Amino acid sequence: MSPLSVVQSEQVLALQAMAKQYQQNSISDYFNNKDRFEQFSLNCGNLFVDYSKQNVDEVVLQRLNAWAEEIGLKRAITSMFAGDKINHTEARAVLHTVLRAPKEIQATILTPTECAEIDQANKQMQSLCSRLHKGEYLGATGKAITDVIAIGIGGSYYGGKVAQEALKPFHQRTVKVHYLANIDGGAIAEKLAMLNPETTLVLIISKTFSTQETLLNAQSAKSWIESYLPNYDITNHFVAVSSNVEKALSFGIKSENILPMWDWVGGRFSLWSAVGLPLAIAIGYENFQQLKSGAYEMDQHFQSAQFSDNMPIIMALIGIWNASFLGHKSLAILPYDHSLRALPGYLQQVDMESNGKRVDHAGDEIALATAPIVFGQEGTNGQHAFMQLMHQSNDIVPADFIVSLTSNSDYHHHHTMLVANCFAQSEALMVGKPLAQAKQELTAQGIENEDVERIAPHKVMPGNSPSNTLVIESLTPKTLGSLLALYEHKIFVQGIMWQLNSFDQWGVELGKELGTSILAVMGGEDNDSLSSSTQGLIDKYLMKRS
Ligand code: F6P
Repeated sequence: MSPLSVVQSEQVLALQAMAKQYQQNSISDYFNNKDRFEQFSLNCGNLFVDYSKQNVDEVVLQRLNAWAEEIGLKRAITSMFAGDKINHTEARAVLHTVLRAPKEIQATILTPTECAEIDQANKQMQSLCSRLHKGEYLGATGKAITDVIAIGIGGSYYGGKVAQEALKPFHQRTVKVHYLANIDGGAIAEKLAMLNPETTLVLIISKTFSTQETLLNAQSAKSWIESYLPNYDITNHFVAVSSNVEKALSFGIKSENILPMWDWVGGRFSLWSAVGLPLAIAIGYENFQQLKSGAYEMDQHFQSAQFSDNMPIIMALIGIWNASFLGHKSLAILPYDHSLRALPGYLQQVDMESNGKRVDHAGDEIALATAPIVFGQEGTNGQHAFMQLMHQSNDIVPADFIVSLTSNSDYHHHHTMLVANCFAQSEALMVGKPLAQAKQELTAQGIENEDVERIAPHKVMPGNSPSNTLVIESLTPKTLGSLLALYEHKIFVQGIMWQLNSFDQWGVELGKELGTSILAVMGGEDNDSLSSSTQGLIDKYLMKRS
């Protein structure tokens, strides 16, 4: 049965009608129900989500669940985990989840060859981590490797970077792991300046082994090592993670130093594969296993919990209610946790590269707004950056606050202030400050009536901004794994509801193609298809360069 497109769904029509009424609701009024916090919050393992500050009630949630039932969400979940080729534009399965499942489950989904490949890759990762940590992995001049530089971009970069920053207390001490993604020469110059080529291992992470940024950075890193070690065999300074073995070999990586990637693991979902090798080196293979076990726990919850008790489904449906029905076209990811400062950037790729689309499976334009504009930064920094807009602009910006109950530092009084600010912001966004309160406060400060009337409107905060607060017991490899899987599944559910393909990314192709064409023009080729703006900019650059 071809899934219902959103316009054919009576649930969607009902939700559109309801939205007009709910836009007039005051979220604070929902708290006249003294049990609101208990009824609109949920535990899953070491994660807790409070969604009571969202503009929803039982009626909306039931209607959203009815829509999910109508669309066949349960069947879609089963289909993904079973390895059906749900990425239909690339005829691929979506099985990043199988990488964190026990072997006996892998065997029910994959071929024996694929299971053996996963096992082999894990053994290679474990061996590399062990040899590096024991100082047994030697460079060309016989010195132990001290630094690893992971070169990759997008999904071949973000996951490792985020998790490594998040799990600093779990870092092993012997080898330092660095990340290089951008093609900007400043990025590689900065990294190589702090490294010794004799003791540096270069990890080239690229599913296609064709991404221009990664290839140029890799080539420059190779030239850097060659220039210092001209008379040595430097092949042991390079390891690749790729599904394109042929290109990795032609780059000069020896076959035993190539770890696999599979076409049924999307780039932005690949942390659980050997793409996670730099992370495993940084935190140790055992902790990398813990990360996967946390994700597996969330997988089990996602597959088994009924919709009304299912954390990814609840977050997904409320997110769609905000973006597609209430008209809130952005989503702020606000980790009140310095170690999660890279999480907003990571979720920008997972969310916007998955669901930033406008046509459904049938190729028809989707009649609802789809993925929100995801942004954010660590709290409390955001309070001194964009929270002003969230409190006083004429846009409502839903937010996901993320906070740990326990701090990974000894500065416990700092942590208390951080958590207080997190809770204060979600409360302030919801309650706001009405005109009467602004006037009363100004009067109480002894301000003259004339000035009270003049200044008060500038102090009004409309409030009624919805938020989730995700509370983590404490940030460990396991809870981080659950958190990342939570968002993976939330985004998957939203793609199912919008009836779009969350697993291709054709939108990145044109930029890449034009990048190659403009590079050629900069090299002297003619190209009269470019706008006069772009041609003028190229001329400006070439003039300066000459
Ligand atoms: O951003 C486009 C993209 O294809 C991502 O999906 C992917 O994670 C990234 O580029 C890097 O691709 P590769 O791992 O093939 O170098």
